[in-house]
Amino acid sequence: MRKVMNVGLIGCGNISGAYLGAAPVFSEIMKITRCADLNREAADAKAKEFGLKSVSVDDILSDPEIDIILNLTIPAAHAEVNLKALTAGKHVHCEKPFALNREEGKKILQFAAKKKLKTGCAPDTFLGGGIQTCRKIIDDGWIGRPVAGTAFMMCPGHERWHPNPGFYYLPGGGTMLDMGTYYLTALVNLLGPVRRVCGSSSAAYKERIATSKELYGKKLPVKVQTHHAGVVDFECGAIVTVVMSFDVQAGGHGPIEIYGTDGSIKVPDPNGFCGPVSLFKKESGWRDMPLSHIYTDNMRVIGVADMASAICSGRENRCSGELAYHVLDVMLAFEDSSRSGRHIEIKSSCRQPVALPTGLLKGHLY
Ligand SMILES: NC(=O)c1ccc[n+]([C@@H]2O[C@H](COP(=O)([O-])OP(=O)(O)OC[C@H]3O[C@@H](n4cnc5c(N)ncnc54)[C@H](O)[C@@H]3O)[C@@H](O)[C@H]2O)c1
Repeated sequence: MRKVMNVGLIGCGNISGAYLGAAPVFSEIMKITRCADLNREAADAKAKEFGLKSVSVDDILSDPEIDIILNLTIPAAHAEVNLKALTAGKHVHCEKPFALNREEGKKILQFAAKKKLKTGCAPDTFLGGGIQTCRKIIDDGWIGRPVAGTAFMMCPGHERWHPNPGFYYLPGGGTMLDMGTYYLTALVNLLGPVRRVCGSSSAAYKERIATSKELYGKKLPVKVQTHHAGVVDFECGAIVTVVMSFDVQAGGHGPIEIYGTDGSIKVPDPNGFCGPVSLFKKESGWRDMPLSHIYTDNMRVIGVADMASAICSGRENRCSGELAYHVLDVMLAFEDSSRSGRHIEIKSSCRQPVALPTGLLKGHLY
């Protein structure tokens, strides 16, 4: 019988409930059994709600029963917790971003390779039914050769709703590392790796005011850029216009569109798992497409399940550290380009993640 991988969760904050809530779908592959947090009360509360054992961070890392560490801490702690997990001999999947800078990201990849352990990173939303349907449409040639595209995410920022939003405006936060990662990961999944980037970055506000009920009125210092506009050239030849902003009160563009030689496709919000997907063909105009793939509900754990399944079957995990590092490299290039006034050639690359097959049974990944 195939082993069910044991997962230990570090970081029991806002997003952890989404992972814990979806985890039972993949119970034949993996189980989250332990949780830990610097704030022991947060770990105790999640343990009680989801029937886990609450332990200290040191204890979860040294537990021989744990195969994978799921790192849902704040961005500034990602690399440190990732390296601790690898040092303890565990595979590690973390929330985005993979690291705050290229040096940290490379160190994690090199250390994992040396220890023969897997690394992985959110977002895993590109494994959802919406974007997998788009991938199939593109791979099957319905829009011909992709030549161009757009990716827009414009909103007034997370301080409106997040209970503790300060980290979004500190290093590791910012619109590109926080939201750009969904769009660029989805684009790399659809089009393959990136060749070069040019961009301009700015921040409209030096401080923001929280309006979520928990911290209403609290001033949040802004130490990162919050508006990025640029052009991304993919190795396949497609040129995609990208705008990621927390400085826009309202806008009207759709999330992602890809334009090919024989048609166009409207890709759904890459911060979710479902549709809608629309396809334009000259003969028929725009048509809403049925989704060809399952996993259309909130499945923020599917990347961890895919890592567990990949370990057991000896294949690459789809939300790999290699993919996350390439996306990080691309995201950082926007500010590098803005500072230098030049295109930035992207030094890293990655394999396009293997598409999910159609006809999967729920709980299975290949
Ligand atoms: N909140 C969301 O909607 C959302 C959505 C997608 C992704 N994310 C990502 O998930 C991550 C966590 O976000 P969140 O909203 O849950 O944040 P949060 O602040 O609500 O929770 C983070 C938790 O990590 C703990 N922590 C911090 N450093 C630690 C360390 N070194 N060791 C152990 N515990 C530590 C904190 O005590 C806290 O309980 C971030 O990277 C964020 O970008 C959040």
